Amino acid sequence: MIAALVAGGSGSRMGASLPKQFLMLCDKPVLVHTAECFLRHPQTEAVIIGTNPDWIEEARRITKQYFPEKPVYLAEGGSSRNETIVRIIDFAVSVLKCTDDDIVLSHDAVRPFVTQKMIDDSIAAMNRYPICTAAVAETDTVAWTEDGQSAGSFPDRSHVYRIQTPQTFRIGSFREVYSCLSDSEKAAATDVCSLFRQKGFSVGLIEGDRKNIKLTFPDDLQYAEWLYRNEKT
Ligand code: CTP
Repeated sequence: MIAALVAGGSGSRMGASLPKQFLMLCDKPVLVHTAECFLRHPQTEAVIIGTNPDWIEEARRITKQYFPEKPVYLAEGGSSRNETIVRIIDFAVSVLKCTDDDIVLSHDAVRPFVTQKMIDDSIAAMNRYPICTAAVAETDTVAWTEDGQSAGSFPDRSHVYRIQTPQTFRIGSFREVYSCLSDSEKAAATDVCSLFRQKGFSVGLIEGDRKNIKLTFPDDLQYAEWLYRNEKT
């Protein structure tokens, strides 16, 4: 199994002087915490980090410092999250000689609380689905609006889930789906699941966790520090 950590974004909503994946979360950079979660799992053969080309030197410095002896690799990220995944898969095939059957767990480098159970469940779901994603049941009432001014309808909350990562697939099926999509279909998809869904594949849901947060805004980092300290003690 290959962990594909997407770290190609600039973190504009975090508003820090460097992308959020490089910010310190207590004792280590965020992406180091995330990579360690995957390195702890016995089925992880390699962790490939797709990083923003402007920040590749910083990523190299960090991986050298924290993972000198580990199978952690860097690939240049792309202009969108899915393009970063494409680049990571190209790297896995061309450099690590991965094949169509290899399982990839694509994961936001800025979700440092992914659990071993999520990784186990994701791999196991590959026997039932071509793609699966971590998800949690929605707890707020949700509204559908056309214009952002007034609510049109209130979908039944019991049918609404929030999508997290990891999102898991085999290299062969990803390449097959990606090669069939038009540029506009690719642009419309913000994650791998929507790429597969556009081609009619069913997307399995595995149990995520409310703590599996994506660091987006400055207060997410404060919450993550609190969570990390409490998880450790
Ligand atoms: N990502 C990526 N390649 C891109 C854009 C995003 O690998 N071209 C990654 C981010 O690094 C992050 C994940 O996708 O790990 C989720 O995206 P998001 O939270 O939107 O990150 P940013 O794009 O960095 O944040 P912002 O939208 O605030 O600029």
